[in-house]
Amino acid sequence: MNNMNFNLPQYLTEKQALVNQYLKLILHQYDKRHELIMAMDHSLMAGGKRLRPILSMAAAHACGKDFLIALPACCAIEMIHTYSLIHDDLPAMDNDDLRRGLPTCHKKFSEPTAILAGDALLTHAFNVISNPEQVFDIYPDYETRIKLISKISQAAGIQGMVQGQMLDMQSFQSKQNNALVDHLKKIHALKTGKMITVSVEAGALSVGSDLRTIDKLIIYADKIGLAFQVVDDILNIEGDPQIMGKAAGSDTLNEKMTFPAIIGLDASKKYAKNLIDTAIEAIWEFDEKATPLRAIANYIINRDH
Ligand code: IPE
Ligand code: IPE
Ligand code: MG
Ligand code: MG
Repeated sequence: MNNMNFNLPQYLTEKQALVNQYLKLILHQYDKRHELIMAMDHSLMAGGKRLRPILSMAAAHACGKDFLIALPACCAIEMIHTYSLIHDDLPAMDNDDLRRGLPTCHKKFSEPTAILAGDALLTHAFNVISNPEQVFDIYPDYETRIKLISKISQAAGIQGMVQGQMLDMQSFQSKQNNALVDHLKKIHALKTGKMITVSVEAGALSVGSDLRTIDKLIIYADKIGLAFQVVDDILNIEGDPQIMGKAAGSDTLNEKMTFPAIIGLDASKKYAKNLIDTAIEAIWEFDEKATPLRAIANYIINRDH
């Protein structure tokens, strides 16, 4: 597989189908008539891009190993990501009605059900990593499972996504100023970047990669993670809600601190492009097995949803 004949759309479609297949197996062990399971299923299977699990598989592949071993971590990370979206959309947070092209979980069900569906996705994610035998054919050994739980819980919690969401809620739009840009970078790196970085790391950890390799992948992932949120901010202004499956314009309405609000649209686009170039640079030593990682980095700034 080299850059010339690599077909990213096909790669993304195949990997999305694989993740969807296993997410279904995980949920369908439980009674689908139960409102909690219905609500989890509604948000989880609504058609997300599955970027984080795809990054895990691409990282495992870049390490020269069988990416299927990363599947339990992939599914767990997508469940945690989906929980974060359900809670992010709640009236107490961003108060959004549309997500992944469907009514948000609290709109379709109720606020209490949405809160609990999020809670259940988060807790069950760790069950998936600790007991993968229930669903998967191949999986990491026990020591690796503990490492995965440790890394993923750090990325999702106080030192990661939840702290980022807290800072995001406390943020407000203001005039251009360097301290603000640094603060915004911190918010983005925490609320979005940490889960993206741990996705790449979990792929490499699942297949037992060495620390030196993982360190390079982490640099790549930190850069694409920040770029991903900068592009999310840009799409919130320029994107088509029909294609995105979620509302546009809400950041301006909520006076959210975003890159376009602070440094402007053009500078935000340039910044995202620089981050992607630095990410690709960080993995220059990897062979052609890192082609998907390189292609995904470029996709992050060219995406329309
Ligand atoms: C949306 O994430 C929330 C952010 C962290 C910017 P995605 O854009 O990956 O959403 P899905 O999973 O494809 O719905
Ligand atoms: C969502 O960030 C980040 C998490 C859910 C952790 P945003 O609130 O900026 O993303 P969207 O635009 O709702 O997807
Ligand atoms: Mg938000
Ligand atoms: Mg939001």
